[in-house]
Amino acid sequence: MCGIIGAVTGEKVNQILIDGLKKLEYRGYDSAGVTLLDGSGLELYKYAHLNQSIEKLSVMPQVNDSMAAIGLAHTRWATHGVPNDLNAHPHLDCSGKLAIVHNGIIENFRELKEMLKDSGHEFISNTDSEVIAHLIEENLSLIKSEGSGADEFLRAFSMTLKALLGTFAVAVISSEYPDTILVGKNMSPVVVGLGNMGNFISSDVSAILEHAEKFVYLQDLQIAAVTKSSLKIYDFDLSGIEFAATPVTWSYKDAQKAGYETFMLKEIHEEPYAFTETLLGRSTDKLELYFDEIHFDPHELADIRKIFLVGCGTSYHSAMVAKYAIEHWARIPVELDIASEFRYRDPVLDSTTLVVGITQSGETIDTLAALNFARKSRAKVLCVTNVVGSTVTNNVDAVMFTRAGPEISVAATKSYVAQLAVLLGFSIALGRFSGVLFKSEADRYFADLQNCASMMEIALGRETSYRKLAEKFKDTRDFFFIGRHMGYPTSLEAALKLKEISYLHAEGYPAGELKHGPIAVLDSNTTVIGIATKNKLYEKLLSNLEEVRSRNARVVVVANDSDNSVSNYFDDIFYVPDTFDLFSPVVDIIPLQFLAYELAVRHNNDVDKPRNLAKTVTVE
Ligand code: M6R
Repeated sequence: MCGIIGAVTGEKVNQILIDGLKKLEYRGYDSAGVTLLDGSGLELYKYAHLNQSIEKLSVMPQVNDSMAAIGLAHTRWATHGVPNDLNAHPHLDCSGKLAIVHNGIIENFRELKEMLKDSGHEFISNTDSEVIAHLIEENLSLIKSEGSGADEFLRAFSMTLKALLGTFAVAVISSEYPDTILVGKNMSPVVVGLGNMGNFISSDVSAILEHAEKFVYLQDLQIAAVTKSSLKIYDFDLSGIEFAATPVTWSYKDAQKAGYETFMLKEIHEEPYAFTETLLGRSTDKLELYFDEIHFDPHELADIRKIFLVGCGTSYHSAMVAKYAIEHWARIPVELDIASEFRYRDPVLDSTTLVVGITQSGETIDTLAALNFARKSRAKVLCVTNVVGSTVTNNVDAVMFTRAGPEISVAATKSYVAQLAVLLGFSIALGRFSGVLFKSEADRYFADLQNCASMMEIALGRETSYRKLAEKFKDTRDFFFIGRHMGYPTSLEAALKLKEISYLHAEGYPAGELKHGPIAVLDSNTTVIGIATKNKLYEKLLSNLEEVRSRNARVVVVANDSDNSVSNYFDDIFYVPDTFDLFSPVVDIIPLQFLAYELAVRHNNDVDKPRNLAKTVTVE
């Protein structure tokens, strides 16, 4: 996710902004920029030098010598438009008098851009964000032409925010109104810091912690007008809102994790947001809405006879969920491959096959090699990745981005649910495209999919009870996770999470396979966790769990809230909200992420950096 900082003080702000950018560095970024406003107007400096942009800005004489007392800065994590200097923020309007920074996604930017182009605005970037600068400019000129004077900057800003669909934290400064930073938000975070030397805004309190004494967290659909000595907060209709500023007692390190113990915990809590962001602007009827940057003409997909899904680790588990969903909704045969095996097994590929590589980082060598092989074999190649501009995007026919934001913890959590969002949405759209689903059916499924974010919120609200239940297993060393149908990928993912961070022995198994061998190892020292949420094999899973229990293994289940009978059979239950069965992996994984987390903490492990593991595996 992008990071925003702004400062308005009685003194120079250059160092505050550069230091703030350095404090945002931990989130990961692909480009950075700063705009400084002094008596001669706005100065703009921005770079897309991987991991060096901030360093570059910090040694620029123009930045170091600036006397500006107001400015904005930004770290970018690209979603629309590759990382390059032009796409980096801040963005200017046509007049060069106002500059904006943005975090989030503007869903309706294409329509707005067309409308603004028709009115004569010229765009220089490929971002969704640049429309905001031009729309403020457009609205400002409209307000001015009506001669209605007062608060014109604020009014133009609120008019603009009301026209935006999507998620955003937007801050703007203008040489015509040189004392004020305006910032507004919907879903993306903004904190305003009030200090003795001036006032500050940021998307992350860690960036402004040392300059402010008190903080106000802006709420959705609110605007803050910030000067060096005042703060006013309004709703989008510009009615004033009362607020209370409170101190923050976090250290800088705590603040980076938004007060959570670890990045993993923070990222688990970001899952609903990652899920929602990833679905923004996508729907059921237009397959092309799933492709970013590099596009297929959807008609090219009309000839596809078979789909191969490839990935490693957690990305492989998302692929498995997608296999079930695509075959169910689009009735296209799907093969599932571990990326490191794919090219060595002589898969049968040609121009009627689509190979989809799923990789959070976009840099996993096995997945890159699998996709290169597919391309050479004349297959159509699509990648799903979380990192715009990553290597995988260089050699494919189309790209679908997840929008989970940078994931710092080695164990994948929010990127997994973001992959599920885009793959499940794509599967529904493919069902529609192939004519298998009626529009009404597809729309209903898509609405249910979007609604999973609320179900995830409910599950996250149960963190304490999940972790308390997990604590019961702190002395267990052997775990089996078993599930059927959509419970199977969840059992694999849960076992991987547990292994990775707790270093305990864990296996994920399709429950029906257990009696073909693995059941022999079960005894009273083993805990078996059944993914017993409702799907068409629910009853069969319960029978499998009985078989397990009769071998004296301890049985725990993940079950739906509406399941009134499950407590008759089992004592230890992770309850989760009900979902449509094909979407259940999105919610069912949450208690199991907390289980892995709690056991890792109990064993005093470094949760974010587990032993022997790298976030990205770039060697074969
Ligand atoms: O970046 P990728 O999605 O290609 O990474 C694939 C795996 O290395 C990754 O999912 C790994 O298994 C994670 N550490 C799982 O938590």
